[in-house]
Amino acid sequence: MTLRCENLAFAELAEQFGTPLYVYSQAALTDAYRAYTQAFAALNPLICYAVKANGNLSILRHFAALGCGFDIVSGGELARVLAAGGEAGKTIFSGVGKSEAEMAFALQSGVKCFNVESLPELDRLNAVAGRLGLSAPVSLRINPDVDAQTHPYISTGLKANKFGIAMQDAEAAYLHAAALPHLNVVGIDCHIGSQLTNLAPLSEACERLLMLIDKLSAAGMVLEHIDLGGGVGIVYQDESVPDLHAYAEAVQRLLGGRKLSLILEPGRSLVGNAGTLLTRVEFVKKNGDKSFVIVDAAMNDLMRPALYQAYHHIENVSPAAGEPFVADIVGPICETGDFLAQNRAIAACAGDLLAVRSAGAYAASMASNYNTRPRAAEVLVDGDRAKLIRPRETVDQLLAAEAACLHDD
Ligand code: LLP
Repeated sequence: MTLRCENLAFAELAEQFGTPLYVYSQAALTDAYRAYTQAFAALNPLICYAVKANGNLSILRHFAALGCGFDIVSGGELARVLAAGGEAGKTIFSGVGKSEAEMAFALQSGVKCFNVESLPELDRLNAVAGRLGLSAPVSLRINPDVDAQTHPYISTGLKANKFGIAMQDAEAAYLHAAALPHLNVVGIDCHIGSQLTNLAPLSEACERLLMLIDKLSAAGMVLEHIDLGGGVGIVYQDESVPDLHAYAEAVQRLLGGRKLSLILEPGRSLVGNAGTLLTRVEFVKKNGDKSFVIVDAAMNDLMRPALYQAYHHIENVSPAAGEPFVADIVGPICETGDFLAQNRAIAACAGDLLAVRSAGAYAASMASNYNTRPRAAEVLVDGDRAKLIRPRETVDQLLAAEAACLHDD
């Protein structure tokens, strides 16, 4: 069987663009977005794609054309959205440590809302808005203290995490915000974690936010929107993941008759399974009893296995390469943590092409130049057309800024 992305064989894409190579299916991006709009149709939500999952401009442009909004966490991500033709008015600014410069840029661009996470951040935003003669639309990110039942590094809604305003401090924070002259309090939000495989924590967080909304409205503070964040998991191996229709039904039931518009901030579930990382086997090596398949992609191209012990399915694209054996699939980086898979049954020999699945989210966007490795190229496939959406970096590009400093001496 020829493994392909839409109508194009992986082997040909690797031949044409080289490896390592990120390959994305445009149809899969569209389908993932439509899955949200269809499941939540009755609530007509604003879907704000979390740019951090994959900020490639062509991917942002595609989502913008579908009508999608964006969730950003830095001035850099806002610049990406604007460069891609996204609308600031459909963009939510999240993040726990926004600088004054980032706030000013977002205010002047006209973002839809700032998701604010602390009292000092409220004060800073009020001051920046005042200086610019603008009013800042604000939502408070509440930490609902629910266990998202995911990897601790990507769990964000527990009291012990740095994120959000604690439930018990929330009312006081709303009063504080309402008293500041250059803020306009419009919403409430939360984000409890990522790669969530159960629906229960998501609906529990929604329920807790609604209790708070009711208390606030009894005190005369009426909010326009509720933003439930991202977090819906994808299948990497054999996980069961939340059903979007069931999620939508739960939210609709919980919202009841309240007049609130809904915002969602999905990242991974819009791009994760639209992407594959293609990598070529350099060597197969044995150290005593242990086997290693050494490939040309490394932890700098896909951090997730090293950082979260994450599983990514890996297939051999090349025609049957003999008997499978158990090996660690590793990159060329000088770190023991540089692996894409451990103790994996695989048939592979030097020169084979491997497809590392589910590499659309938090792969290219978390890539680095560690070991002075140029970042890999990215290709977007639409039917039988492949478009280079990020050229492979060159070593000259990596050195250029520092080399220029040498000339200053
Ligand atoms: N909104 C906020 C405020 C977030 O912090 C995040 C992700 C999202 C939305 C999108 O969440 P998603 O739908 O993608 O789960 N690098 C990690 C994931 C970190 C997620 C951080 N926040 C990984 O590779 O698993």
